[in-house]
Amino acid sequence: MKDIVLSGIRSTGNLHLGNYYGALSKFVKIQDTCDCNFFIADLHALTTNPDPQQLHANVKSILAEYLAAGLDPEKSTIFVQSDIPEIAEMYLLLNMHVGIGELMRTASFKDKARKALGLGSPEAGDGDDDAIERQIIGTDSNRRVNAGLLTYPTLMAVDILIQKATKVPVGKDQLQHLELTRRFARRFNSFYGVDLFPEPTDFDFGGAPVKVPGLDGSGKMGKSEGNCIYLIDDPKVLRKKVMRAVTDEGPKEPNSPMSEPVANLFTLLELTSTPDVVSHFRQAYADCSIRYGDLKKQLAEDILAVTTPIRERVQDILADESYLARVVRQGAEKARARASQTLREMREIMGIRPL
Ligand code: TRP
Repeated sequence: MKDIVLSGIRSTGNLHLGNYYGALSKFVKIQDTCDCNFFIADLHALTTNPDPQQLHANVKSILAEYLAAGLDPEKSTIFVQSDIPEIAEMYLLLNMHVGIGELMRTASFKDKARKALGLGSPEAGDGDDDAIERQIIGTDSNRRVNAGLLTYPTLMAVDILIQKATKVPVGKDQLQHLELTRRFARRFNSFYGVDLFPEPTDFDFGGAPVKVPGLDGSGKMGKSEGNCIYLIDDPKVLRKKVMRAVTDEGPKEPNSPMSEPVANLFTLLELTSTPDVVSHFRQAYADCSIRYGDLKKQLAEDILAVTTPIRERVQDILADESYLARVVRQGAEKARARASQTLREMREIMGIRPL
């Protein structure tokens, strides 16, 4: 049996190079060999109460970026989460088998709750588990941690289980959610003595995981870090961002070790440039003749060579509203077929049957 691959992305902004190299470009490659399902998690985006206009615009732009980067609706099932009402119903059913304690202990929840409550870091002593719990349950705070945030892992498990997906490509930050999904699947199967849900595992693309660094000298590229190069960045904007990337004073002695900000620029160069270009600059670094300005200029052009065709396709796709509508209608139809089958089985198992 072919693996059912499923992955979703929250609709909270544009796609950046990290999304592209970490996920999207790999998704494009597996479309021919796997039963691929990719969706836009707009219900998950609601957990942080986005502006409605913004949410709608983001769903459209991410969809266009998915397609422009090479996801093919003829090969993969591409859909919007909220187009599948079965997900909302199964979310209610599955929640009956999920403990609030295990949800409250989830790392992503503690993180987001801490932020929503304006609490500091646990190291500072004011954002530890007890403080979070007191504030969530207490009445003296008008700040809210909404229930959707708490049940985020239930919803994600539903996305996966309703399609009976077996392989779920996710980043490191989502592995705990995947672990919970397995636990919920196992629990449901054993509670009712059935074999309804397969236990999904992380999709292994082989090789070392790609780490795409940001331009700010440390850490990885991420929306919330504000260090991103977006696929749709205008060339002028993109060049400016790259030219402003953090570096250091330059090597003083031959074969000096590289500082993190400079190593990060080399990592980006390795992703986007040809091997000769990379070795040219490595050599220049080793013999201290390197000028970071030259490296950045080259890097900006090589990144643009990757992003420009995507950016242009995004513009074309966004201009074709009926094409976008057709893609998601067709995707929803396929996704709903499997979802409604799973939901039917689940209702029957749980004793929700017609009189
Ligand atoms: N929680 C994921 C993220 O923030 C997005 C997501 C929602 C997802 N449902 C999913 C990913 C199902 C994989 C499978 O990145």
